[in-house]
Amino acid sequence: MRGPGDQPAAPGWLLDELTTAGRENLDPAHVARYDEKEDADAAAEVELLVRLGLDRRSRVVDLGSGTGQLTLAVAPRCGRVVAVDVSRVMLERLRTKVAASGLQNIDIVEAGS
Ligand SMILES: C[S@@+](CC[C@H](N)C(=O)[O-])C[C@H]1O[C@@H](n2cnc3c(N)ncnc32)[C@H](O)[C@@H]1O
Repeated sequence: MRGPGDQPAAPGWLLDELTTAGRENLDPAHVARYDEKEDADAAAEVELLVRLGLDRRSRVVDLGSGTGQLTLAVAPRCGRVVAVDVSRVMLERLRTKVAASGLQNIDIVEAGS
């Protein structure tokens, strides 16, 4: 029996994004090395977005942002970025990078998408 304030149980058909996110993306040791090992070529992605019309009025939602390679590359070229990731560990790394960057137009959301 549920008490006041308890969340209702998730329906069985609803995807559990945390368990399907990839175990490595929840592993602090993996995340600490992520940017050394993986180059998402964010600069090329930003240039593509600019060619498609991205400008300072644009809002970008980076779903599955990870450590924020795209988030940090696109933020200086747009109005606002919302970085969404289900991995708290990834987002902790992103928060550190955002703080070091001085960028003020990035929102970070811990959620499945
Ligand atoms: C391979 S990493 C890529 C990160 C980043 N986009 C990049 O290119 O560097 C995939 C990311 O997606 C996140 N992720 C996986 N499934 C997700 C979901 N359903 N909702 C939100 N984030 C998710 C993982 O936690 C991980 O940070």
